[in-house]
Amino acid sequence: AALEGVVEYRNVTFAYPGAESPVLSNISFTARPGETVAIIGSTGAGKTSLLSLLPRLYDIAEGEVLLDGVPVSDLDRAEITKRVAMVPQRPYLFSGTIEHNLRFGKTEATDQELWDALQIAQGEDFVRAKKNGLNARIAQGGTNVSGGQRQRLCIARALVTRPKVYLFDDSFSALDVATDARLRAALKRTTADATVIIVAQRITTITDADQILVLDNGRIVDRGTHEELLETSPTYQEIVES
Ligand code: GTP
Ligand code: MG
Repeated sequence: AALEGVVEYRNVTFAYPGAESPVLSNISFTARPGETVAIIGSTGAGKTSLLSLLPRLYDIAEGEVLLDGVPVSDLDRAEITKRVAMVPQRPYLFSGTIEHNLRFGKTEATDQELWDALQIAQGEDFVRAKKNGLNARIAQGGTNVSGGQRQRLCIARALVTRPKVYLFDDSFSALDVATDARLRAALKRTTADATVIIVAQRITTITDADQILVLDNGRIVDRGTHEELLETSPTYQEIVES
C-alpha cells in the first residue's frame, strides 16, 4: 500500500490523433507519494497534454505512462480515476446543486467530508454565505459563480475522492496571491502522502516543489528544484523574470 500512487512517464512521445508532429517528445520523469512535481513552461508548451495522458484521455504512440508500475494502457479509466483526480484547466461545473457537483464521482462522501474539502479548498466561506449552502443551485457550466469559485469547487471535488494522485492544471491562477498561499498550505497538509503534479503559471506556486520540470515545445529542457534551476536554467530564469 505504501507504493500506491507512483507515477512514471518513460520516454513518452505523443501526437494528437490526426496531427502530423508530436506535441510531446521523449518525456521521462517519476513522481512518488509525498512528492510534488511542478511543470512550468510557456503557453502551448504541452503541459495540459502531458497531464491528460495519465487519466488516459488519449493513448500514446511511443513510450509508457505507468501508474504503480502498470502501464495505464492496461488499466480501464474507472480504475485510474479511483486513484487519480485531475482538476482541469477549465474547471467544469454542471447544472445541479453544489452538493451534486462536489459528490460527482464519489456519492458515499458524508456532508462533513464535503465541508472539510471546501475548507481546504478555501471555498467554505462563500458556500456558507449562500442561503441554501450545499443545496445552492449551480447553473450549467457554473456561470453563476466566479472563475475563482469555480476553481475552488473543482479542487474540493478532487479532494472528496481522496485520490492517491492529484493533477492540478493551472488550478490556482484565478485566485489572489493570499488565497493561493492559504489554499496550498492547507492542501500540503492534506496531500502529504499523495503524489501531486501541478502545472502553474505563477512561480510562487511552485518554488517549494520537490522537482520542477521546465517544458519547452514539448520537451523537458531542464529539471531540478527552484534553487537549482535558478543557477542552471536560462529558460527558467526567463520565466522567473517575466
Ligand atoms: P497553456 O495551457 O496555454 O499554458 O498551454 P499548454 O502548455 O497546456 O499546452 P497544451 O498541452 O494545451 O497544447 C500543446 C500543443 O498541443 C499546442 O500546440 C496545442 O495547439 C495542441 N493541442 C492541444 N489540445 C489539442 C487537441 O485537442 N487537438 C490537437 N490536434 N492539438 C491540440
Ligand atoms: Mg494548458
